[in-house]
Amino acid sequence: MNILLFGKGGQVGWELQRSLAPLGRIVALDWQTEGRLCGDFTDLAGLAACVRAVAPDVVVNAAAHTAVDQAESEPERARTINALAPGVLAAEATRLNAWLVHYSTDYVFDGSGDTAWREGDATGPLGVYGRTKLEGEQAVARHDRHLIFRTSWVFAARGNNFARTMLRLANEREQIKVVADQIGAPTGAELLADVTAHAIRRVRQQPDLAGLYHLVAAGETSWHGYARHVIERARQAGQAIRVAPEAIVAVPSSAYPVPAPRPLNSRLDTRKLQTAFDLRLPDWQDGVDRMLGEILGR
Ligand SMILES: NC(=O)c1ccc[n+]([C@@H]2O[C@H](COP(=O)([O-])OP(=O)(O)OC[C@H]3O[C@@H](n4cnc5c(N)ncnc54)[C@H](OP(=O)(O)O)[C@@H]3O)[C@@H](O)[C@H]2O)c1
Repeated sequence: MNILLFGKGGQVGWELQRSLAPLGRIVALDWQTEGRLCGDFTDLAGLAACVRAVAPDVVVNAAAHTAVDQAESEPERARTINALAPGVLAAEATRLNAWLVHYSTDYVFDGSGDTAWREGDATGPLGVYGRTKLEGEQAVARHDRHLIFRTSWVFAARGNNFARTMLRLANEREQIKVVADQIGAPTGAELLADVTAHAIRRVRQQPDLAGLYHLVAAGETSWHGYARHVIERARQAGQAIRVAPEAIVAVPSSAYPVPAPRPLNSRLDTRKLQTAFDLRLPDWQDGVDRMLGEILGR
């Protein structure tokens, strides 16, 4: 199997390089990769030429404009990367009869209510990022052989992440204020990559599994609950922590005005994925604890 992976330097792309390796030969690109193949999603003609040159059996797209607030001030760039480029990948995948794997987000929903969103629920993005990601998934879905995974609150040990920020603040401050009215499931890039590899194997044998799936870790929490969990685990691991548990204060989203409003209800119902692919998704704490083990060096 020949696999063409875009966004190799991102959280999910990095883990995909590992999880996809046993499936076949991988050509992995990011937008700064130099050479004859173009992985820059702002160069749509170059992107099409790249897919034609590699002629993969499977295209996996982990590239995206993920800077949610920045997207509000550069909507055209966000749309090119999140919507038009996936459309080009879909057109080229159709020409090659290749599979196209793509990732989307809880931000396609408006965040109302308190039940977990199903795949068929009405969308209603609140900002540019969500709107462009929705347009991107619609473009990918026009190609028959697709898998789209909507996920949320992605973390990885590599690079900066929410847990690292909380651990730094917990050591610097007497009090930390964390948003408590946004609810979702922190989901590891490792889990996304492992499920992707499993799903690619399965869908090639059973093409009627093509479609849109929600893919997040099990359980739910708020950013406040997430922060408390991280800091408590670090304390148990013997890290120097200045902030007392009761000084991790729950605040509403309105306490932190940002250019792009966040959905309050980011719960995603994963039953469709678990049934179709015969999978069990682990609790969010499992992935977070593993990531903490790595960043705390234990
Ligand atoms: N992160 C989350 O919490 C989250 C939540 C829900 C869904 N998702 C979705 O999950 C997927 C993977 O996200 P992630 O967390 O791995 O994001 P990420 O770490 O930001 O990775 C995205 C990758 O795309 C690259 N990129 C940026 N501009 C590009 C361009 N013009 N051409 C090609 N590549 C470009 C980035 O490069 P640079 O780093 O150099 O900019 C980065 O390597 C995305 O589809 C995202 O929308 C993410």
